[in-house]
Amino acid sequence: MRSPAHILLPLAAALWLGTTAAAQDPDCAPGGNFDLSKFNLQLPIGSDSNPDSPQTISSSELAGCDGWSDTSYFFTSSSGSLIMKVPGSPSSSGCVTTPNSDHCRTELRETSPGSWDPNSSVNRLKVRLAVKVPGNGGIAIGQILHNLQPNKPVAELYYEPSGDIEIGVAQTTAGGNQIRQPVGHIDVGDIFTFELRYESNALSIALNDGGFQDLDTYDLDAPPCYFKTGNYNQGDAPTEVSFHDISVSH
Ligand SMILES: *[C@@H]1O[C@H](CO)[C@@H](O)[C@H](O)[C@H]1NC(C)=O
Repeated sequence: MRSPAHILLPLAAALWLGTTAAAQDPDCAPGGNFDLSKFNLQLPIGSDSNPDSPQTISSSELAGCDGWSDTSYFFTSSSGSLIMKVPGSPSSSGCVTTPNSDHCRTELRETSPGSWDPNSSVNRLKVRLAVKVPGNGGIAIGQILHNLQPNKPVAELYYEPSGDIEIGVAQTTAGGNQIRQPVGHIDVGDIFTFELRYESNALSIALNDGGFQDLDTYDLDAPPCYFKTGNYNQGDAPTEVSFHDISVSH
């Protein structure tokens, strides 16, 4: 009988590769270091053709080492991480946001799929990041939105200027009735992981793989959803977030 090593060694190598981030190349645009094929990018600036709505960069424009980047908002750091910056609020910085929001963002929006069913068995957003500059109003670093009405979050994960992390969950798809609860604390600048799951009609959150906290979904009843992650600045002062890993699974 052959030794099981010919099975176990490749398996161990595959697991190791699967859980260890590939070295990120500081000379590449973010699209060369991260798989951004499932997202587009929303910016805190307008486009020439439509100055009243945020400029959006498509996943194909983001793709690859020569993909889109901009040293003010979305670029690769000297260590290879992905930096997303927002200059402030519309009143403090003149940044551009959507008609439904008072806050500006540099944020990835899931587009493939652009809508998924929270009743299905796997819907996960896992992100490894560090908040470098938390601003003065906190940052929504992860969101679940639904497609029944534009810009109505199911859940928003907030990083507060103190380092406290809270999750707000809407009680209905009409929104405007979010209930917040504490999730944990991570010091400003420290690298951490969050994972948001909305699957089998159950919503949960984990920090640093430390076990999932189950969250009430009230009367939401699993509307069709999509994920967002990035720097959605809730205050007036500049904010900066550094991303080390971003993955979505369905
Ligand atoms: C998920 O299931 C609930 C309960 O059956 C249903 O009301 C809801 O519409 C479903 N969601 C989707 C996106 O199909």
